[in-house]
Amino acid sequence: MSPASRTVLQRRTLDMSEPTRQRSGHGVFASHAMQRVLRIATEAAPSGIPVLITGESGTGKEVLARIIHDRSGRPRERFIPYNCTGTTCEIVDSQLFGHRRGSFTGASENAPGVIRSADGGTVLLDEIGELDARIQPKLLRMIENQEVHPVGQPRPSKVDVRILAATNADIDQMVRDKRFREDLFYRLNIIWIHIPPLRDHREDIAPLTTHFLRRYAGEQNKREIRMSGAAMGQLIERDWPGNVRQLANEIRRLVAFAKDGTVFTPDDLARSTASSGPPRSQNVAGARSARDKVTISADQPLPAAIEEVERALIIRVLLAVDGRRSAAAGRLGVSRKGLLLKRRRLNIDALLAGD
Ligand SMILES: Nc1ncnc2c1ncn2[C@@H]1O[C@H](COP(=O)(O)OP(=O)(O)OP(=O)(O)O)[C@@H](O)[C@H]1O
Ligand SMILES: [Mg+2]
Repeated sequence: MSPASRTVLQRRTLDMSEPTRQRSGHGVFASHAMQRVLRIATEAAPSGIPVLITGESGTGKEVLARIIHDRSGRPRERFIPYNCTGTTCEIVDSQLFGHRRGSFTGASENAPGVIRSADGGTVLLDEIGELDARIQPKLLRMIENQEVHPVGQPRPSKVDVRILAATNADIDQMVRDKRFREDLFYRLNIIWIHIPPLRDHREDIAPLTTHFLRRYAGEQNKREIRMSGAAMGQLIERDWPGNVRQLANEIRRLVAFAKDGTVFTPDDLARSTASSGPPRSQNVAGARSARDKVTISADQPLPAAIEEVERALIIRVLLAVDGRRSAAAGRLGVSRKGLLLKRRRLNIDALLAGD
């Protein structure tokens, strides 16, 4: 890397004492897209109506569900996540809706079930697409009537439970294919929040990295651990198929092997990734073309979308030319002064350096 690039990309390193931008209790929501996700969740929180949260694995669906619960005014401790990928229909039925003692072989005690245990609070039905077709009507009745019918109990009992559902499957398609009940789907998706994959909101990568550095350094009693600007630039460029979870794991692994005062370099990243297991086979051309694409969400105002494209292009070109500003300006077809102004307006050096 040239000395010039160091001035652009490494002049400033992450300062652990600096407050992480735009945090919300449990997480980081800095980009326009994630601010919007947080805003919808916050507005939906007090209503008590079901919310469907979709998004690829590791995008933060459970994080968002907890935020909705925490802002719903329901008792904090009564948030129960339940994974619907149960073994058998009978087990899922009794785990969710409870059973009476003696109602089937092995039912030696009364069991309230997840829904009644969360009475007054919230149940997150995770992997909702996997919910057995025979349980789906029972859940629909529970939502419509706010009552559960435990196995072996003559009459249903009233409950007051907020239902949140999450999935990384294409549940819309499952409904069209008749693999998921349409009536239940419409009950669950009164509010539908889709969390975009991390590669579509790269502005969050630097603040998330700062957040995880702070968290894992704190947990491991380490001090002054930072990311160099060049390393941060590389993190921003990666595609993160495992989304925020993958980024968190990467930072956790880096911090685990670091001493106090470490400033991570691109070499540290390369070593850490190499030690994270066998490389996944990947189509290099496909990966490159994915990296060359700038994805914007179609539901934002035009000026914000234009800024996102400008920011993404400038960061990519700066990294590609090792931070040489004249070369970057030439490639982008703007003057050096023009590039300087854009870097300032779009906060690009801060984004690359994390301050
Ligand atoms: N906005 C965020 N800010 C901070 N940390 C986050 C954020 N989103 C996700 N994470 C972290 O990433 C990890 C994965 O998040 P979470 O479990 O909510 O994802 P998920 O979408 O439910 O994944 P899966 O589909 O695999 O169940 C967790 O460690 C979580 O703390
Ligand atoms: Mg989850």
